[in-house]
Amino acid sequence: MRKQRIFSGIQPTGVIHAGNYVGAIRNWINLLDKYECIFSIVDYHAITVEYDASTFQKNIIDAARTLIACGLEPDRCSLFVQSQVPEHTELAWILNCITPIGDLERMTQFKDKSRQHRDNINVGLLSYPLLQAADILLYKSEIIPVGEDQVQHIEMTRRTARRFNNRFGDTFPEPAELLSNTPKIMGLDGKTKMSKSLNNFVGILEPPDAIWEKLRTAVTDENRKRRKDPGNPGICNLFTMHKEFSSQEEISEIDRTCRTAEIGCVECKKNLFENMMRCLAPVQQRAAELETNQEEVIEVLNTGAERCRKIAEEVMNEVRGKIGVRKS
Ligand code: TYM
Repeated sequence: MRKQRIFSGIQPTGVIHAGNYVGAIRNWINLLDKYECIFSIVDYHAITVEYDASTFQKNIIDAARTLIACGLEPDRCSLFVQSQVPEHTELAWILNCITPIGDLERMTQFKDKSRQHRDNINVGLLSYPLLQAADILLYKSEIIPVGEDQVQHIEMTRRTARRFNNRFGDTFPEPAELLSNTPKIMGLDGKTKMSKSLNNFVGILEPPDAIWEKLRTAVTDENRKRRKDPGNPGICNLFTMHKEFSSQEEISEIDRTCRTAEIGCVECKKNLFENMMRCLAPVQQRAAELETNQEEVIEVLNTGAERCRKIAEEVMNEVRGKIGVRKS
């Protein structure tokens, strides 16, 4: 039986953080055997905000080696850089031409980013969701494993597929999002979503002492003012992280002993740190090996791009034929 196809992407922003890891990447690894999987480092998305061209290539390779180190091995999926397959931008242009501008102006991420980058509200930022729709539709992908912040973009992709199909005939399946157990992890401030731009993150390749320093100073249940006050794990972001990195018994024990004030926040954080490092240490080690062997990383990306180009060429031939720009 044919496996359903998965597509997902991540921006090469220079840091892959714990939010990306538990919200998306770890889910991707769990899905590798059940689905045909395609993952992309979406460099053209990342240039919609101010970026440094001189370090961009390094960021792309760093993202690739981190993902491979997490478990996206090339014999189990295709991993490639978006700009290696030019059909992504070609399809995005076509989708631009069938989408009302109002649909894009309403997107939450566009509104947020326009506020964050007031002096650079470029057209790419507005049309960003259509490049994302193109990423997905180009492979006729069916399932899209993402964090919560991407759900609106997947809804937009479905609408776009429907619009294209209605106008030019049945071409694209309408993809569904697939969320992980923790589709939104808050930052170390405990108030906003963990993200690179808000500088409230734990990077998964950060040295252990840096990770500890970040956890040590992270905001917990703010109502717990003194060590002897009982805490409420239900509103503590660190407890959410425990749920991702600690064993079932430890999670129950922390839940109980925090509520009775048998343990304090520092003890709870030390425990989290140890469990987190147990999970991240092998990833860090493999990523360090790959840092000294860049050819291996580039080889993985080239193989992935080659596989994806074949699919992309075929789908674009069909699309070009349907919209009448070229006979398919
Ligand atoms: P990006 O690069 O911001 O994030 C990559 C993945 O990590 C998830 N994520 C989180 N999950 C939980 N808690 C958080 N704090 C957190 N922060 C990030 C994101 O939801 C995402 O799944 N537009 C996309 C990239 C993209 C894409 C695509 C995704 C481009 N084309 C096609 C899916 C399909 C983005 O900027 O993700």
